[in-house]
Amino acid sequence: MVDNPLIKLDRRDGQALLTINRPKVLNALNRQTLERLDEALDTVRDDPQIQALVITGAGDRAFVAGADIEELKNLDAVKASQFAARGQEIFNRIERFPKPVIAAVNGYCLGGGCELAISCHLRVASTGAKFGQPEVKLGIIPGYGGTQRLPRLIGSGPALEMILTGDPIDAAEALRLGLVNRVVAPEDLIETCRSIAASIGRNGPLAVRWALQAVREGGQMPLAQGLSLESSLFGLCCSTDDQKEGARAFLEKRAARFRGV
Ligand code: COA
Repeated sequence: MVDNPLIKLDRRDGQALLTINRPKVLNALNRQTLERLDEALDTVRDDPQIQALVITGAGDRAFVAGADIEELKNLDAVKASQFAARGQEIFNRIERFPKPVIAAVNGYCLGGGCELAISCHLRVASTGAKFGQPEVKLGIIPGYGGTQRLPRLIGSGPALEMILTGDPIDAAEALRLGLVNRVVAPEDLIETCRSIAASIGRNGPLAVRWALQAVREGGQMPLAQGLSLESSLFGLCCSTDDQKEGARAFLEKRAARFRGV
């Protein structure tokens, strides 16, 4: 277990549970928390035992209630754009993370919190979760990727409504819009995420990594180029021992023993 005051990282059963730990300020992301988050990502990436990462917020009120507004008070233009660029860099890392990342959204998921959740590969919300991009209420726009990822995820109409009004939506609406994959009772949230992570963890890790890459990179390409990427990565899968083991295990009617090679 790697621990520090701002980020908790619990590694077991092939999964990492990362908790953003500033419950007194609803887990608002200040600079230091973002840096610790970045370091925790290194730990998870470099641990060969870990197949998937679940990110949540400490306490029962919030996932993350946004960037720390205290730190936004006195930024000049240069510092503000550096501030946005650094957050974007870390959230880009999550989006490109070689292992699946699941957001367990346990309450307020606002501003930078919503941007963090949508940089994850999957999102599960508790029934009481609230999603929003309230930045315009503070006279700013989303700066950690919200204006780019949210419309790509749910379409420009619903995304613009959230970004222009700044008003939050509840978990049921988030599910309807495709902003989250599932909504579950608060007491089932982490277990549901762990169970999704376990289900992914039983699959070939290289195939999982390349599926993530195909969907992510292919989504930015014209269809023909995306299909070409897909066939190349499909070829790469077939160069692995895991692919041979997968086919053999199926034919022998047993569970595959993937080794990630
Ligand atoms: N940055 C810094 N501090 C924050 C914060 C943020 N994004 N969100 C909440 N906090 C702090 C509050 O200042 C308060 O601190 P205090 O106890 O020292 O006064 C504490 O967290 C609890 O929040 P509070 O506002 O008292 O709770 P609430 O239940 O009345 O309201 C919210 C909850 C989420 C609706 C409200 O805190 C809020 O609107 N937060 C800001 C959301 C936002 O604009 N995010 C985008 C930032 S770019």
